[in-house]
Amino acid sequence: MNGTFLDLPQMLGAAGTVRLPGSKSISNRALLLAALASGETELRDVLLSDDTERMLEALRALGVDVVQQSATVFRVVGSGGRFPVRQADLFLGNAGTAFRPLTAVLAVAGGDYRLTGVARMHERPIGDLVEALRQLGADLRYAGSEGFPPLLIGSPVADGSDLVTLRGEVSSQFLTGLLIALPLRRGRTTCVEVLGELISKPYVEMTLQMMARFGVEVVREGWQRFTVVAGSAYRSPGVVEVEGDASSASYFLALGALGGGPLRVEGLGADSIQGDVRFADALAMMGAQVSSGSNWLAAAAPATSSGHARLRGIDLDCNAIPDAAMTLATLALFADGPTTLRNIASWRVKETDRISAMACELRRFGARVEEGADFIRVFPPTPAPALLPAVVDTYDDHRMAMAFSLAALGVPLRIKQPEVVAKTFPEYFARFAEVTQPVPVLAIDGTSASGKGTIAQRVAQALGWHYLDSGALYRLTALAAERAGVACDDAGRMATIAAELDVSFSSGAILLAGDAVDEAIRSEEISRAASRVAALPEVRAALLFRQRAFRRPPGLVADGRDMASVVFPDAVCKVFLSASLEMRAKRRLKQLIEKGIAANMSDLLQDLRERDERDSQRSVAPMQQCADAELLDTTDLTIETAVAQVLAWVSKLPNKG
Ligand code: DC
Repeated sequence: MNGTFLDLPQMLGAAGTVRLPGSKSISNRALLLAALASGETELRDVLLSDDTERMLEALRALGVDVVQQSATVFRVVGSGGRFPVRQADLFLGNAGTAFRPLTAVLAVAGGDYRLTGVARMHERPIGDLVEALRQLGADLRYAGSEGFPPLLIGSPVADGSDLVTLRGEVSSQFLTGLLIALPLRRGRTTCVEVLGELISKPYVEMTLQMMARFGVEVVREGWQRFTVVAGSAYRSPGVVEVEGDASSASYFLALGALGGGPLRVEGLGADSIQGDVRFADALAMMGAQVSSGSNWLAAAAPATSSGHARLRGIDLDCNAIPDAAMTLATLALFADGPTTLRNIASWRVKETDRISAMACELRRFGARVEEGADFIRVFPPTPAPALLPAVVDTYDDHRMAMAFSLAALGVPLRIKQPEVVAKTFPEYFARFAEVTQPVPVLAIDGTSASGKGTIAQRVAQALGWHYLDSGALYRLTALAAERAGVACDDAGRMATIAAELDVSFSSGAILLAGDAVDEAIRSEEISRAASRVAALPEVRAALLFRQRAFRRPPGLVADGRDMASVVFPDAVCKVFLSASLEMRAKRRLKQLIEKGIAANMSDLLQDLRERDERDSQRSVAPMQQCADAELLDTTDLTIETAVAQVLAWVSKLPNKG
């Protein structure tokens, strides 16, 4: 695991329009059906993501002629049901929508194939599908553990059964794969009987519709028996337009419900063939205002006479919308009461054990969560809005990253391994940024004794914004280290101390482990130590999220050395304060005399010179004036004049929140 992360600031609101990427489920089905059909197919609005890449690679490895004509348009020359390459080693990543149907298709068509995936794919069960295919006469062997990929595929025996039974409770993709493969049995009529309850029915419905588009009608009796008659064969319909992804749409509709909205997604409408489009109904049950047209859906916050009402907690059977239900789980953090999502046992065998992953990460925000074999119940933290800033693990699961991004409507958070979204939506966070409005930050950087602390506090007061004294965090780290007897240059232990600082800034006093330390952190000794501590990259990294978590509505004024360059590079206003060395030494001398501490000018000049040198020469986050920062020299300015100047800059901003 590498250590990538994305810090999302808290958002004031969300609204706008998002053009959705193509549906993963439809893209991978369409690619495979086009490859199996006779004739050429043009596929439009195909999703480009890890999962579809795996399918494209596999089809090319099987000798299928697939040409990318433009960003999202592919031309597939059908192989008429027989792949040209009869022997291949296929790596299918963690793409269930590639692994399951390719297993079925290759096992029925026959050849000499080896199918592998990532480690997690080798933990996801496939035994029920293998059993069903063996009834048809397929030659399938497990290359690793019994019941799980990787798989070895040979050629089927001729006298397999024409009636197969398949358990329906584990994954609907088993039935999807089997059905897609049956027309390859040419002269045989095959009937599949589903044992037990079939889960995720809308995905099977989608499979049947797509097969019909390619000329194969499956005869079905309820959700129990499915028959493909002899002589069925796939024929290209010419052009297939892929709908926008309904699961991907759920995050933006949820954003609209949480962030005011309206938020409109384009690329699919209420008549979509994707089951997850029903997420919109669940959102409406929670109180959101939902609307739709032929090729769009939109959501806005619940209507009230004043402001936005909170969402309502719901109790819902989510069997038909297993993926979009993850979006409901994080929305539950914002509801006025508990939310129970039922009938989601399939979550346990997805990209990760999603029930336990969800429960664990929701708790980090302060929620109480109950979980069972097939349900999750979320009690939002009270009183609202009481979410805690949190660091979220994503378990190599794209939906964990996307679902938790919604928490930014209530609290700042860090998402680890955000790149997992590439599985189905590589551009997710770019689209997210386009429709969300972060809490504004005013960054005030500058040298020691340039007046930043006083000016920043007064500006914060005038604006009614929060205030972050980032230098205090370095001072607190130095003090905590001194109290723990840790040497300032022990980077590893210093980073741990910084990460675990037990500090509170409540009601004007700074408390370290419950102890008032306002005075102690301002001593000359701690000032010197803080400057050394601040040069350690490990300490700066450990304090980064803690600083960003101060960014709460309606806004934040942050002072320090790297507020504009590192901590809040997206600050709406950046100011760099300076003053002559002599004036700064004079100010410091005055402060010390007021405190009754003996000091002399030449020592102070020397000290400030050294500290400037260290702060501006260190290898990480050196003090500097950013190119987009306003420079304010306070040498000859009163505090009042300096504050007025900063406020004037802020008032000129088009969008200061
Ligand atoms: O602003 P201050 O004097 O309280 O800062 C204490 C020390 O911490 C100082 O040596 C500079 C360092 N610092 C930093 O490196 N980055 C910040 N954002 C704030 C302070």
